[in-house]
Formats: sequence, C-alpha cells, structure tokens
Amino acid sequence: MTDTFAQDVLKGLTAENKHLSSKYFYDDNGSRIFQEIMNMPEYYLTDAEFEILSMQSKQIVEALHFSQPFNIVELGAGDGFKTFKLLEYLTENGINFNYVPIDISQEAIDALTERLLNRLPGIKIKPKVGDYFKILKQNKKSDYPSLLLFLGSNIGNYQEASAIELLRLFNQNMKMGDKLLVGFDLKKNPITIHNAYYDKHGITKRFNLNLLLRINRELDADFKIDDFDFYCHYNPLNGEVRSYIVSLRRQDVLLKKLNTSISFDYNELIWTELSKKYSLFEIEAMADVSSYKMVANFLDCKHYFADSLWEKG
Ligand code: AVI
Repeated sequence: MTDTFAQDVLKGLTAENKHLSSKYFYDDNGSRIFQEIMNMPEYYLTDAEFEILSMQSKQIVEALHFSQPFNIVELGAGDGFKTFKLLEYLTENGINFNYVPIDISQEAIDALTERLLNRLPGIKIKPKVGDYFKILKQNKKSDYPSLLLFLGSNIGNYQEASAIELLRLFNQNMKMGDKLLVGFDLKKNPITIHNAYYDKHGITKRFNLNLLLRINRELDADFKIDDFDFYCHYNPLNGEVRSYIVSLRRQDVLLKKLNTSISFDYNELIWTELSKKYSLFEIEAMADVSSYKMVANFLDCKHYFADSLWEKG
C-alpha cells in the first residue's frame, strides 16, 4: 500500500500540473474529518440520500422484482449510516436477504457489524474486507439475485472515463437481472454546491491538508501545513467541483523516503479532488454507455440527489 502511495505521490508532485488522488484522503484521521464533513449542515448530500432511503425503501425494494432470498452487496460501506434505513425496512417487513458490506477498513467493518447486530438482531450479515472485484467475483457464483450499492456520490470522485470503466467492471461481475443502486449528486444552484465544499469552518480545508500530514508521516516529508491553503471551485457548466491545495510561498519540500525535493512556486496548485455533479440526462447516458438498463431514479424532496437503480442489461 505504502509503495503504491509513494509512487503515486512522486508521480503527482513531479507532474507539470501537480496532483494527488483524493483516494488517499482516507487514513484514520481523514476518515474522521470526513465524518465531520458529513455532519455539516452545508454538506447536503448525506441528508438528501438519508431521506431517500428513509422514505423510499419500499419503492426501491418493489422495483427490484427479486425472488427471496437475495443479496445486498455494499461497495465501500463505511459506517453504514444511510444504508441502515434500507436494512431496517427489510428486516421489519420480514424480507429474506443477506447483507454483504465491503470496505477496505477492518475497523469500519467491525464497528458496522457490531452496530447492526445490536440494532437489527437476526440480520444475516456477511462482512468482507478487501478488494471489491475479488469479492464481487465470488458473489457472482451465488444462487441468489444481488443488489449492489454504490452510494454517497462516490462515483462523482472519478473522472468520466474511469467512472465508466468502474461501472462496466461492476457490470461484468453481476448476473443477468442483478441490480445496481448508484448515488449521484445532482446539478443544482451553484451557491448550494459551493457552500458544501468551501465551508466557512474550514473543515474541508483540514480534510485536504491532512493529505500533506499523511505524506509527512508516511514518506518522511517536511510539508509546513501553514504554508499551504485550500481552494475549490464549482463550474456549473460541466458540473465539476475541483479542489486544490495552494502553496502560499515559493518553497522546497523534502520527501526523505523518496530521496527527492519538490519545488513549489508562489500560488502553485496541487489538484486533489474532483466531485462531479450530474443531470438526470447524464445519469441515463452513463447507465447506457456502461451496459445497464435504467430502472428508476429515486430523488429527495429538494431534488438535490438521486439514487439511480440500474439493471444489468
Ligand atoms: C466521498 N466523496 C463523495 C465526497 C465528495 O463529496 O466528493 C468527498 C468530499 N470532498 C469534500 N467534501 C466531501
């Protein structure tokens, strides 16, 4: 892990336009800061998706047209906060299903399992830690139909070509008739989006700068955090929020473990994250190009977010 991390950091910081991948935000500290983000009133995404799963679980389950039992496989389950509402609906209604949460963090999966067993005793939970595709491949052999969950607008963190590639890979690891529920953040008033990412308490800034602290720790580097700032920009024309770390002065940073020093110009940027917002039209095109049939879109009351249900076509 650290080796790929080291290689990616080196590649990103020596590129003409410096960049670091947002997938590296999530060390233990980054995951805690992300929890803080999800609790911010400005970060509407979590509440919107929670509302969808609280109010429309019945409609979602009806749209599956599954025989019982079936599997619910969640990719990147995290703390399982939103999914709880769907699982609660299923257990309360005596529906026979297996829940397979997948995450890279053993700690997150253990906490999720313990919490679910406490709150929904009798739930059939088969937690997995590790690589999505290995686990999906095993799941393809199951005799039961499966619903895959990829929630929380995680798809928005992928550039278009990678997003399509990922959705196609999911597709290849599904059986005919299996379904995928994907969470998309929708285009909306640009000010609402801007405020969710450029929060006034600086939590998202801390989330980004934590990546430099991680590099200091894991690659023995000497980033001085106060010499960097955070900037992000929403472009309503293409739906992209792009986040950056800004160097506040001309400076050299030593990455001892890589035997390299990186120079930063005054105001030079490191691109850290893409958070893409979609229109319903784009979601439909995305389903189509990655070989799914669109089943239905489930939106919150403000139309901020969509959980889009697709079938392997
Ligand atoms: C995890 N991901 C969907 C979040 C997003 O909205 O792109 C990460 C995040 N970045 C800044 N705030 C939250």
